[in-house]
Amino acid sequence: MKLLVTGTAGFIGYHLAKRLAAAGEDIVGLDSINDYYDVRLKYGRLAELGFAGAEQWPEDSALRQSAAYPNLRFIKMNLEDAAALKALFAAEHFDVVINLAAQAGVRYSLTNPDVYIASNIQGFLNVLEAVRAYPVRHLVYASSSSVYGINTIQPFSESGAADHPASLYAVSKRSNELMAHSYSHLYGIPTTGLRFFTVYGPWGRPDMAYFLFAQAIMEGRPIDVFNHGDMRRDFTCIDDIIEGIVRIIGLIPSGVPQWDSIQSGISPAPARVYNIGNGKPVRLLDFIQALETELGREAKKNMLPMQAGDVPATWADCTALERDTGYRPRIEVREGIKRFVEWYRGYYKNEESYTKNEKIDIERFGAPGIIKNEPAYDKQKFPDGRM
Ligand SMILES: NC(=O)c1ccc[n+]([C@@H]2O[C@H](COP(=O)([O-])OP(=O)(O)OC[C@H]3O[C@@H](n4cnc5c(N)ncnc54)[C@H](O)[C@@H]3O)[C@@H](O)[C@H]2O)c1
Repeated sequence: MKLLVTGTAGFIGYHLAKRLAAAGEDIVGLDSINDYYDVRLKYGRLAELGFAGAEQWPEDSALRQSAAYPNLRFIKMNLEDAAALKALFAAEHFDVVINLAAQAGVRYSLTNPDVYIASNIQGFLNVLEAVRAYPVRHLVYASSSSVYGINTIQPFSESGAADHPASLYAVSKRSNELMAHSYSHLYGIPTTGLRFFTVYGPWGRPDMAYFLFAQAIMEGRPIDVFNHGDMRRDFTCIDDIIEGIVRIIGLIPSGVPQWDSIQSGISPAPARVYNIGNGKPVRLLDFIQALETELGREAKKNMLPMQAGDVPATWADCTALERDTGYRPRIEVREGIKRFVEWYRGYYKNEESYTKNEKIDIERFGAPGIIKNEPAYDKQKFPDGRM
């Protein structure tokens, strides 16, 4: 089976490419290697995949062979380049496409909305057009728990409302689901969207709270705890996410003819969406405590109000995933954090590299309080009172 995995230099794409390549699948990895966060981390992931020295590559769209896996190749390409993408599909004839490349992050979408339209809407349209021209057996793509927006009925179920987004990032992910559905309906392309819930773990994303917390705790700096710590997240370990994706690849949707014209998440068209989350929301303060335990240092907490675009709680209903794949995420937060901290300590061996990374984060994501475009209505109407 020949698979295209986009976003391979990213957190989830790296882990997936590694798992599939180790299993002997024929893989092409694709990534634009953008500088949204520290690119050294992206080149580090590529080096782990057998592409050491990728930072020295000339600007071309050559397919390069991994030194670690004979069945893995990589191409530096932007999904926004429709012609290049189609040429790749024409040359390779993929059986399965797993689209993980996207502009991620809720906060960044408040200040850089245009990037989300370019990467996540236009880029995804280009993927759909490529699979229309060169049909695949299955298109699997990353959606997000953020599609549930201000929905207050927890746990979040795929059959529930996902039409009240709290950020343009969420809009872009929900739009991907709708775009995929229309292509499944029109052209019979089987598509599955995966709503990931707060993924963490080794080789993670340095813009995410747990990573910023680890950096700050190690440096003795205070950490920003939003909504005064009154947040719950369904933190999901990367290993569980990868197991879920791998099982979904072979689960090709065929449509549900007896659809009641009401329920979300299913369709007579071969289009599905699944939650992949731990199913056990954890209080932010408990998560921080687990980090403190593993890092062996206490956090100085800077309690702040809720951030614009954020939601107070996420909780995945994984009934559908478990029913259809026989799997549900099972790694406890303590174990997941242990795996993350073990990697983190090895990767950032000295204080100097913590500091370098922090500078990039502050430039990118702003110091606390920079984002001030709070919605005008009362967010207290949507409190975290449901769990
Ligand atoms: N990590 C999470 O908690 C989480 C949660 C929900 C959804 N997701 C989604 O999962 C996917 C993977 O997320 P991640 O955490 O690995 O993020 P990531 O930022 O680490 O990886 C995304 C990769 O895509 C690449 N990319 C971005 N735009 C591109 C484009 N136009 N063309 C080619 N490459 C492009 C980036 O360079 C990056 O390496 C994303 O779609 C994200 O929105 C992630």
